[in-house]
Amino acid sequence: MEFNEVIKKRRMTREFSNKEVQYCDIEAIIEAGSLAPTCNHLRQWDFVIIDDRMIINILAKCVKNYSSSASKPKNPYEDMCNYAFPRQQSMIEEAQFIILPIIKENSLYKATNMFSLMHFADTWCAIENMFLKATELGLGCSMHVPSMEEQNNIFNLIKCKKGYALTCIIGIGYPSETAYYPEEIEFDRKRIHRNRW
Ligand SMILES: Cc1cc2nc3c(=O)[nH]c(=O)nc-3n(C[C@H](O)[C@H](O)[C@H](O)COP(=O)(O)O)c2cc1C
Repeated sequence: MEFNEVIKKRRMTREFSNKEVQYCDIEAIIEAGSLAPTCNHLRQWDFVIIDDRMIINILAKCVKNYSSSASKPKNPYEDMCNYAFPRQQSMIEEAQFIILPIIKENSLYKATNMFSLMHFADTWCAIENMFLKATELGLGCSMHVPSMEEQNNIFNLIKCKKGYALTCIIGIGYPSETAYYPEEIEFDRKRIHRNRW
């Protein structure tokens, strides 16, 4: 797939089919993530891959759906919320693989400036690379950002070491035929500022 096509095709998938995903594809996705830039040159990500059905099901139960939004969506944002909010749990349950990008907690929760957030930013660089690779392979990804309670329950489940933080929960699978993609909101090009604001 051509590069621009991959970028345009990447969407958040929240309904998966039960078609089997090959482990070599997950390895290729992790490899793409691991080529992302890191603030200190050290590539210190940890990725926990989960494909044990029992663990995925328990992990899904650690997550709460977001509370419901507008009943009749008036715009693409509300439409996205209406579709996404009730699917936080099921989009994990339906995934064939889960990837948990995990970082050292360090100064993350006491962040007062950008430097404190650099390791956090590293994982987001890796996450986007992984989404793009998955798209190229014809796979879909979901993403849930966990609350502190959800993180703690998931860390108990996977026996994560102390002092770490969970960036998000990525679900990977082939999109189901019913997967819905809310209308995209176009970037307002007036927000590009040249030489001065
Ligand atoms: C930082 C970040 C956090 C997000 N958290 C969630 C989430 O918790 N649950 C969810 O369903 N989608 C989440 N999303 C996905 C966005 O809703 C989605 O990217 C956005 O609606 C644009 O749609 P698209 O990715 O299909 O282009 C998150 C995206 C980003 C960048």
